[in-house]
Amino acid sequence: MTGATPDPDRAAAAQAFYSRWARWYDVLARNAPGIRRLRADAVSALDLSPGDTVVDLGCGTGATLGYLRKRVGPEGRVVGVDAAGGAVARARSHVKRAGWSNVTVCQGDATRPPVDRADAVLASFLVGMLPDPAATVNAWLDGLDPSRVVLLDLARSTHPFGRLLNRPFGVVVAATAPPGAREDGERSLVADLDRRVAAAHRTLLDSCTATTHDRRIGGFAYLSAGRPG
Ligand SMILES: C[S@@+](CC[C@H](N)C(=O)[O-])C[C@H]1O[C@@H](n2cnc3c(N)ncnc32)[C@H](O)[C@@H]1O
Repeated sequence: MTGATPDPDRAAAAQAFYSRWARWYDVLARNAPGIRRLRADAVSALDLSPGDTVVDLGCGTGATLGYLRKRVGPEGRVVGVDAAGGAVARARSHVKRAGWSNVTVCQGDATRPPVDRADAVLASFLVGMLPDPAATVNAWLDGLDPSRVVLLDLARSTHPFGRLLNRPFGVVVAATAPPGAREDGERSLVADLDRRVAAAHRTLLDSCTATTHDRRIGGFAYLSAGRPG
């Protein structure tokens, strides 16, 4: 999907949804089967060094912030950005409890990140929610001047065995989607998710060098990384 117009009502509904369910999303985001390995692999693909500044766009309740902080060390900087106030509050409370003075979480729009530059950019399970993911990925590449960008997402599988589970995957996507998105029905919702994830990953892979692309968890998890320029 390219050139789509943002729908403010849908964006507001999604923010309200992620704020309302932040506590439960947090449990899932930290404990779902296979999720820790996926987060660790996404962070490894960022190829961070101590002292780097890394931005986690659409950071949700902050489930990846600790992995990022470990890589950049106390002299580096981690910035999480999320639109949903409830998710930001939860992420901030994790950061406060952990005592990470070099990790900040801002409420803001990931399509116009409130950051001038970053050594690395991560977006996990975000681009499927963006109206124009290709344009947004390009904006990150141009605007933040990162040396490494990583996308981690879920979409339907093209793997011969994974495909057999595409229907139940669609049911789970529909059941856990924000209300505005659910109105379109399961088929359209999952087709949109596939299109948006494909557009974002294709844009990243086409615009970067030293790219990698992996499919995990039966082909449902898409992990792409690249070095812009
Ligand atoms: C599925 S959650 C993923 C959260 C986190 N990245 C993770 O790995 O657990 C998607 C998050 O993206 C946020 N989000 C959606 N659109 C956004 C936007 N335009 N700007 C900032 N955050 C956004 C939502 O509020 C939600 O917290």
